[in-house]
Amino acid sequence: MIELNPHTKEYYIDNSENLKVIAIPCRADNYTYLVLSDDEKKAILIDCADHIKTLEILDQLNINLKAILITHHHHDHVDGIDKIASIHAEAQIYCSQKEQDRKIFKTSAKTVFGGDKLEFFNDEVQVLETPGHTSSLTTYYFKNSNLLFCGDHLFSLGCGRVFEHYPGVFSDFFNSMKKVISFTNDKTKIFCAHEYTKKNLTFLDSIGKVEGDLLSELKERINTLDGTRSVPTNMEFEKKYNVFLNAKNVEEFKKNRELKDNF
Ligand SMILES: [Fe+2]
Repeated sequence: MIELNPHTKEYYIDNSENLKVIAIPCRADNYTYLVLSDDEKKAILIDCADHIKTLEILDQLNINLKAILITHHHHDHVDGIDKIASIHAEAQIYCSQKEQDRKIFKTSAKTVFGGDKLEFFNDEVQVLETPGHTSSLTTYYFKNSNLLFCGDHLFSLGCGRVFEHYPGVFSDFFNSMKKVISFTNDKTKIFCAHEYTKKNLTFLDSIGKVEGDLLSELKERINTLDGTRSVPTNMEFEKKYNVFLNAKNVEEFKKNRELKDNF
């Protein structure tokens, strides 16, 4: 249906209206992101799936790291954080209280809470608590640049698997989807942490949800990027076609999530 091969390049630069983003493909299907300052000499790192590759690119482009924003504790997001922090000692780490409590890295970090506003490179970064994939998942929205970094909360045409089955988790996950919609707009670029689009498309096909202009819009987006990757996606596309984001109620969300789990 579609062919994607994001690992053909060392990294991609996404030109937003304001701040540029470097997407680093790593591991089997992860993306690690750097948000660059206007002068492209400083950056904010969002999670890190491969510290060796990330450090090489920071070195190669002569970029100083100012901060590290953690979405959640899974190993393909935080492995190597201590190593990066030891080399870029000026970079302040931010994470949620729950991630602090998990003691996922040794370097000291500042705690962020939902509703907090950080400021980097003249942009306001809104901190959103988005539990669901994990109870602690934090999403970061660069408001002026209109960039959303959501870790494994939301993927193009999909969402993260539920890892912590506590009472009310599906309700939390559904509400987190609605929260992300309420803070963003159709033009928001979504930088999710995995290239899962092709798998998600196959799942949608299996439940008869490849409809309307989905395929043509998806192909156009991929070709606009560079023909090998589907990320970043955007809120307008996902609101139209992502059955997890546009679920009408918790029951519909849960049903779709369970169908996907067993797919
Ligand atoms: Fe995860």
